[in-house]
Amino acid sequence: ETINWTPEMAEKEGYNHFMIKEINEQATSVRNTLTQREHIQEIIDDIDEGIQRICFVACGTSYHASLTGKYLIESLAGIPTDVILASEFKYSANTLNDKTLVIFISQSGETADSLKALDVANETSKTLGIVNVAGSSITRRAEYVIQTQAGPEIGVAATKTYVAQLTSIYLFAALLAKNTELLEELEKVPDFIDEALEDIDFIKEISKRYNYARDFFYLGRGYSYPTALEGALKLKEITYIHGEGYAAGELKHGPLALIDEGIPVVVIAPPGDSHRKTMSNLEEVKSRGANVLAIGSADDDALKTKADDIITINPEVNEIIAPLVYVVPLQLIAYYITLEKGHDPDKPKNLAKCVTVE
Ligand code: G6P
Repeated sequence: ETINWTPEMAEKEGYNHFMIKEINEQATSVRNTLTQREHIQEIIDDIDEGIQRICFVACGTSYHASLTGKYLIESLAGIPTDVILASEFKYSANTLNDKTLVIFISQSGETADSLKALDVANETSKTLGIVNVAGSSITRRAEYVIQTQAGPEIGVAATKTYVAQLTSIYLFAALLAKNTELLEELEKVPDFIDEALEDIDFIKEISKRYNYARDFFYLGRGYSYPTALEGALKLKEITYIHGEGYAAGELKHGPLALIDEGIPVVVIAPPGDSHRKTMSNLEEVKSRGANVLAIGSADDDALKTKADDIITINPEVNEIIAPLVYVVPLQLIAYYITLEKGHDPDKPKNLAKCVTVE
């Protein structure tokens, strides 16, 4: 029997959807983006030493990559850093000056809100675009450009371009802070991502159990907080289930009231300084009946006894590099729940890959 391949099937290279193909391309996406190291060093050398503040401006998934950038730059380089949604940018425009570096993160390089903000920032400040689509408007209008090397992304929900954005930000922050240890760690990330992808069968099985949930919560602390937001965004975008990401410590200031018997709570708990506190947040939701799906180190026996389900990651992935790896199971959970529900993960309703209206 012969299979007649349509052009679309050929483009998917045997995968059922672009999204799962792109999830599987993430190690390559990171590896190829790591080649930008010298170029990023040149940008840092060129930008005047007098930079006193950094502002990230972005939308959607790119906003979550930006938030991770704030944690990295502030903790490693000590430069005050803000993250502003592009659509809310105009209220901050007055605070920019020539000692501010404004970094625009965008997959498409064409998002209207981001472009508008870029024009404003160009009037006073140095601007840097971190963009995936070569030749796009942001690459033409920003003063400096880092090109993420994810290759074309077709699925509307961003996956491989997110890890490529993160890789650029990690390189930028590590080079800025002259943190050679982190630069070495980054080289190992592609292998960690490929290992995380080996858990697919288990994730498919859990997705069958969670497909009926109406609400999901995602908890993470510190570096894992933006990962929680991104996990919830993936879920909303393609499964149409309500998902919310919270900073784990903020839970008791409101959202805890929503936790009930059987509500799925995804707890992102990599090894590191914030682990102990994340564990106590896990117990808070558990004691109110939540169904805890934890993502943590394969070595983490305490987590294994406390969670209802656990997805394990290589123990060498500490909380600082965790955003690059722990997002993988979150993408897979959203993808497989979407298939269980019978929706098309590549073309979610009401959403566009690139939003060119304000
Ligand atoms: C749209 C896409 C999202 C994306 C956002 C920002 O909403 O559906 O996946 O994160 O735009 O796009 P950008 O191209 O600027 O990263």
